[in-house]
Amino acid sequence: MNVQIDPAERIKGRLTAPADKSISHRVAIFAAMADEPVLVTNYLEAEDTLSTLAAIEQLGALVERRADGLMIRGVGLRNAQQPTQPIDVGNAGTLLRLLPGWLAGQDGSSFELDGDASIRRRPIDRIAEPLRLMGAEIEATDACFAPFTVTGSRLNGIEYVLPVASAQVKSCVAIAALIAEGPTTITEPDPSRDHTERLLAQAGVKLEREGDRLTVFPTDELTLPEQIKIPSDPSSAAFAIAAAVLVPGSRLLVEDCSVNWTRSGFIKIAQRMGAVIITDLEQRPKDRSTAESEPVSDIDVTAGPLKPTTVAADEVPLAVDELPLIALMACFAEGETRIEGAAELRLKESDRIAAVVTALSDLGAEVEATEDGLIVNGHGSLRGGQVDAAGDHRIAMLGVVAGLASQQGVEVLGVEAASVSYPNFLDEIAALR
Ligand code: S3P
Repeated sequence: MNVQIDPAERIKGRLTAPADKSISHRVAIFAAMADEPVLVTNYLEAEDTLSTLAAIEQLGALVERRADGLMIRGVGLRNAQQPTQPIDVGNAGTLLRLLPGWLAGQDGSSFELDGDASIRRRPIDRIAEPLRLMGAEIEATDACFAPFTVTGSRLNGIEYVLPVASAQVKSCVAIAALIAEGPTTITEPDPSRDHTERLLAQAGVKLEREGDRLTVFPTDELTLPEQIKIPSDPSSAAFAIAAAVLVPGSRLLVEDCSVNWTRSGFIKIAQRMGAVIITDLEQRPKDRSTAESEPVSDIDVTAGPLKPTTVAADEVPLAVDELPLIALMACFAEGETRIEGAAELRLKESDRIAAVVTALSDLGAEVEATEDGLIVNGHGSLRGGQVDAAGDHRIAMLGVVAGLASQQGVEVLGVEAASVSYPNFLDEIAALR
């Protein structure tokens, strides 16, 4: 589906962003691993997280849709059923990387995972390596792609240094650690989103955090709260926030959004660029101690002039999904913005370095790719034109925001890709005009 987005006069109103995608995936998987039922409220009903519900059902969990939420009845840590059909992760990279952590410990059972064309381009060697070190058997297409098979076994704890700051890999290893013999220590090069650690702490799992080292101790049982409410997704809210920052005269209130410090990089970078965003971000704890709950706050946004900035490598994991929006905002600042140390962007739903360069150049921006990032030379405005989402939900929504802030509007090709994380995006943005 193609849509023409005309320039907006202003963005005005209140928005409750959809439920957090990362937390929804994790809560569904954890509830499947638990013995007692969990009522999940505000679960994200989008393509990615529906793939996760289908996957846990294939593994034996029961998912009941009730008026008050999703009741998930799990099978316990060690009792995942071997499905008769391959597990289809759809477009969901988080499901692709997290679920094998659980499956790796299902002694004697085999599981095949596959997904769409984008998933088949995304490497799984990053999880296969630590899981093999723990004792699992993994056979992948061309050594590192889906479709691939995980054969579970009795796992042993390991000391693992993550080669990249990836919350998906950290979470995969942490999940496998629950069923392993002895503790597992994971060292992160830079902090990444910590939803897994928070949920593990809530589930009564023994965790130790010393600086960049996280130790997870095995357990017999996850004791999750009876009810878990998923907060709104800051990565989804970021699209409307960027629109309100860029369209003169705008004022937006995003209500009750996650302000977890491991997800707040976008807001901090935008504030540094001069955006007026008032909110109560969670502070980064000095000792990296593991919090249990997910903090939420309102986010009050007003349009204003922007200046260029440099995004450094250690900020990248804290804003990784929002970096295309930073590049868009940089087009509206005067001067050079650099995004550095972001090679991971090449391995997302699309090669997002190439996708952002193509999209923004087609709209008249001066933008170039580096090996591990982007350089944008901003001229204070953006002409407009056509953006092809090419199956990437965040590029589809980037095109829409660009259209609202552009001089001539933007036609977005394949805008339906937004349904992977934000099915009502077009309607909710239209209501803010
Ligand atoms: C995610 C982690 C990030 C992010 C992805 C979701 C998660 O990936 O880009 O959209 O839920 O753990 P990496 O951890 O691989 O960087």
